[in-house]
Amino acid sequence: MRRAVLAYLACPGCGSRLALSSVTGEDDGHVIEGELTCCGCARRFDVKRGVPLLAGADVDPLKTETAARFSEEWTRWTDLRGYYESQFLGWIAPIAREDFAGRVVFEGGCGKGRHTELVARFGAKDVVAVDLGESAFVAFQNTRHLPNAHVVQGDLTHPPVLPVFDLAFSVGVLHHMPNPEVGAKSVAGVVRDGGRLVVWVYGLENNEWITRFVDPVRHAITSKISYRALRTLSAIPAAVMWGAIKLFYRSGSRGEGLFRLPYRQYLSSMSEFPFDELELIVFDQLVTPVAHYLPRSEVERWFAGTGFKDVQLRWHNQMSWTATATVARSAPGGGARALAPDFETGAGGIRVAGSA
Ligand SMILES: C[S@@+](CC[C@H](N)C(=O)[O-])C[C@H]1O[C@@H](n2cnc3c(N)ncnc32)[C@H](O)[C@@H]1O
Repeated sequence: MRRAVLAYLACPGCGSRLALSSVTGEDDGHVIEGELTCCGCARRFDVKRGVPLLAGADVDPLKTETAARFSEEWTRWTDLRGYYESQFLGWIAPIAREDFAGRVVFEGGCGKGRHTELVARFGAKDVVAVDLGESAFVAFQNTRHLPNAHVVQGDLTHPPVLPVFDLAFSVGVLHHMPNPEVGAKSVAGVVRDGGRLVVWVYGLENNEWITRFVDPVRHAITSKISYRALRTLSAIPAAVMWGAIKLFYRSGSRGEGLFRLPYRQYLSSMSEFPFDELELIVFDQLVTPVAHYLPRSEVERWFAGTGFKDVQLRWHNQMSWTATATVARSAPGGGARALAPDFETGAGGIRVAGSA
């Protein structure tokens, strides 16, 4: 934890600023062990292994369990890889790398910090990344060399930061929260008036079969079995995907012939991934106790009320939703949804923007 992060932190209980009350270990410009005290309610929080621990003691057990399951993932697949940049820019488009330059950025649910690191490199003034799990320690190790990257352990439902951010993003997180809408509102709540947010979530459209056939298995078995057993199990669908991608979905292949191949955009985008990234993708799908597949109408509803403007929804890879919006707290009646002009009618009559 660099001292500079104190400019952004807030007590998850009362929202007051936090002060550094003791330091028992320091290294390389970071407080490694110490204590923070709330300037309002005097509550104390530890800093351990370089990370401020700002989750309240009263976090819902289902959220803690979800974060703990993901910690298994991020403490095993720890490294940062070159293709994460194009994957991230695909998920968050139309937000682009220039949108981060000079901005104060919040990340909700950072996992191992793969996007924290990118955003810091894109020239953010500061990026403050929050995750509820032990993954926060991995994210700290992956970003500790970057002066503008800060990692905090906390619950996105009670984000331990002040509402001062120019841009907030959350990729692949809200659908793992018991109530994704509450998560979306929490992300929006940290953005200053006139700032922007972008969230990417699983879509229901084209994924109905997952809710029917995979969800029951996830609930009953795969979210409960050991890391080792799940990793072994994940290798089987990963091998099938690997074979299919190499045979039918290589980049450059149009994926069209006698049949229109399912998940063409999604699987083609993975044609250069190594095998263990496919294992990670399968593992990620199966490890969690909570995964919502969200219809367009629901994501649209999150940003439909007053408080948002310039709302855009984009159907990414024809299987997931990217929502961007500007926060307009002070505008009376602000938040009227203005769909982007490039929206068109997609499969199932859903009005969508073309995917990246
Ligand atoms: C699928 S991972 C995505 C991580 C990262 N955004 C990425 O794409 O690499 C979901 C992450 O959300 C975190 N998470 C889930 N619920 C959370 C909550 N209530 N507060 C903060 N983080 C949470 C998990 O611990 C996990 O690291």
